[in-house]
Amino acid sequence: MFQKISLFRQSITFYIAYSGVKKMKIDQAENLRKQIASAKSGRKTKVVSIVSGKGGVGKTNISINLAIGLSQIGKKVLLVDLDIGMANIDIVAGVSAQATIVDMIEEKLSIYDIMADGPAGISMIAGGSGLSFLFQLNAIKFSYFLRQIEQLEHQFDYIFFDMGAGITKDSMSFILSSHEAILVLTPEPTSITDGYALVKALHAEDDRLPIYTIVNACENENEGYEAALRFKRAAHDFLGKEVAMIGALPFDRTVSRAVREQVPFLLSAPKSKVSLSMKKIIFTYSGQEIKTKKEFGNFLTKLTKLLTPMLKRGSNNGE
Ligand SMILES: Nc1ncnc2c1ncn2[C@@H]1O[C@H](COP(=O)(O)OP(=O)(O)O)[C@@H](O)[C@H]1O
Ligand SMILES: [Mg+2]
Repeated sequence: MFQKISLFRQSITFYIAYSGVKKMKIDQAENLRKQIASAKSGRKTKVVSIVSGKGGVGKTNISINLAIGLSQIGKKVLLVDLDIGMANIDIVAGVSAQATIVDMIEEKLSIYDIMADGPAGISMIAGGSGLSFLFQLNAIKFSYFLRQIEQLEHQFDYIFFDMGAGITKDSMSFILSSHEAILVLTPEPTSITDGYALVKALHAEDDRLPIYTIVNACENENEGYEAALRFKRAAHDFLGKEVAMIGALPFDRTVSRAVREQVPFLLSAPKSKVSLSMKKIIFTYSGQEIKTKKEFGNFLTKLTKLLTPMLKRGSNNGE
């Protein structure tokens, strides 16, 4: 059972997060065991950014339920909350907040120390106060960060980044380093035009980044397919970019109920309209994986290349 968040729980979490540093040392042997096991598993890790032009379109709910659905069919999934202003995966998933990536770097914790067990066997990491902290790092801390990320190779089939809406130079590096991006749209014209602007900006930086769409909060499946088709045509005609659709999700009050109850809809209402459509998406998406899978190393190399020039200058010697 995962835990509900309450004020009481939050204060306990705060206590655990800080007293947990001691516990983490004890867990080092456990971490080592996990690393050895993961190296043996030989999983190919695919890194995916979940993005949108406009906020509030359903990125977080889609990230969590996609992760849960893939986990239910036997995939190992890590969900990383990188939404700067609105980090809320833990609340929607009903899991207590833990130490974050920032704590990992500052306290020299292992990446396994900051990983929480989410619902249905998924793992979760909180980004912390934002990504811009990465640019405040010196070379030593940055290489510590990369060494920890490196350890995720073979451990997971998928790593999902739940990104903030729109794009900043911080989030751009992560999206461009990913193996692919999933753009969440709704049929509303504002979501479509903001989504288009985002694709245009990404395409200008890297015309080979695969981008897929999920259309959320549709009146019916047809409306979703039509919106995706219009989007696909615009991207093709004006940018020469192919943007394939993964699927559509209906507007369903089950989603807001699930958010209020802090139990993801795929678990709280597996037979609801939105869950059935989500299962279709999971079926389509898990089938695609074989064609597009790339090395995890590509992600790390790109991230290093994009972030290194932006690191805090003149601090290659440590503090
Ligand atoms: N398919 C849907 N049907 C009904 N409401 C939805 C749906 N998807 C999202 N919502 C509502 O929109 C809110 C914002 O969703 P969220 O996943 O947090 O978006 P984002 O991460 O893009 O900001 C949710 O709390 C929920 O109430
Ligand atoms: Mg969100």
